[in-house]
Amino acid sequence: MENLSPRPGDLEPIETASRDHIAAVQLDRMKWSVRHAYENSPFYRARFDQAGVHPDDLKTLADLAKFPFTTKADLRDTYPFGMFAVPREKLVRIHGSSGTTGKPTVVGYTKKDIDTWADVMARSIRASGGRPGDIVHVAYGYGLFTGGLGAHYGAERLGCTVVPISGGMTERQVTLMSDFKPRIIMVTPSYMLSILDEFRRQGIDPRSSSLAVGIFGAEPWTNAMRLEIEQAFDMHAVDIYGLSEVMGPGVANECVESKDGLHVWEDHFYPEIIDPATGAVLPDGEIGELVFTTLTKEGLPMIRYRTRDLTRLLPGTARSMRRIEKITGRSDDMIILRGVNVFPTQIEEQILKCKGLAPHFQIELTRSGRMDNMTVHVECAADAADAAARAASAKELSHHIKSVVGVSTHIQVHDPDGVARSEGKAKRVVDNRPKE
Ligand code: DLL
Repeated sequence: MENLSPRPGDLEPIETASRDHIAAVQLDRMKWSVRHAYENSPFYRARFDQAGVHPDDLKTLADLAKFPFTTKADLRDTYPFGMFAVPREKLVRIHGSSGTTGKPTVVGYTKKDIDTWADVMARSIRASGGRPGDIVHVAYGYGLFTGGLGAHYGAERLGCTVVPISGGMTERQVTLMSDFKPRIIMVTPSYMLSILDEFRRQGIDPRSSSLAVGIFGAEPWTNAMRLEIEQAFDMHAVDIYGLSEVMGPGVANECVESKDGLHVWEDHFYPEIIDPATGAVLPDGEIGELVFTTLTKEGLPMIRYRTRDLTRLLPGTARSMRRIEKITGRSDDMIILRGVNVFPTQIEEQILKCKGLAPHFQIELTRSGRMDNMTVHVECAADAADAAARAASAKELSHHIKSVVGVSTHIQVHDPDGVARSEGKAKRVVDNRPKE
């Protein structure tokens, strides 16, 4: 794989600024953001008044802890446009996250917000090893989902040539990649696996592809999966994080030269880690729920938004800005099976240890009597498809899960192509337990 360390002069000064400088920028901007929310969004004014706090109470960064949290429920309650801090006519774009329960969560951007987003996305692509002039194949979905258009504007801002293919039509994705020869692909890691299968189906060696870097996010994925994809394509696999409520993709990104967690672009998004049960702010290094305050956003300022994502804050390395550790899961994806907490990423790690299995999987929860059961549906590798090999793989996986994760599971090894393929965010858990 190519060495893609940044060249001198490639980075923005803020990326290598001193912590003192970054903190000063943050405090200035945080004061503005909290005041902007209070003065222009009736929602925030009522919330702050109710909590007995005022923008004047924010004198240091730590004072942010005095302010109330914002949650997804607040966005639902004010659906569609009730939280905005600018008149609707000032919004140039609406996005939304699909959500599992009917109506989407709606977010809006002013012209300046779209500009900021393009800047942080360009920074993210550059941190991943992208350069002006690269061809960028964007296979994140275009539409209300922020992935496609977020990646698109960032790649254009960096000076790249964008192929806006969106998700789906996997056969065509591979054809266009062979024809256009992109250096960068931006896509969910689970859909990258579907693309990998398609390369093999067409008899094309994925290692011979033009891809040098994949920028993967929108769902949790493991370092084991990183290795799998990097080896299959002979490319760098870099993690990108974001959420529509805070902006979209490009809130945090790994650096290709270190791949040691995602640097939060702290000049625009202020991170905190809290204890999800008590709401108390935890010191850097401790695992808890990630909370963001936007520092520059006009349309929809977010003050202490609870992401439900679990991680911890670590000091900067390749950049001065702090990192979040690769996200293992969301509190709402956590399965509690007979008293043990299980995340789909833990199952992914164990599957990738088994040579006889392919990395496509889905977890099914069922109930018999009072007992919850977990079945892992997974595929056999093409060269381990006979009955004996499958039985051995099932036994091996069940053993790994029992000894590392601590739960007994039923393993069902399907034919190649026997597990539903992802074209965007993978659905990892199917809950077939009777509703209470
Ligand atoms: O998924 C934005 C995005 C698009 C990020 C493309 C990266 C690439 P939402 O649909 O609002 O926005 O979903 C946000 O997805 O709270 C996490 O739970 C999860 N997520 C996003 N990136 C990662 C990641 C986009 N790198 C929710 N690792 C977030 C783990 C991620 N989970």
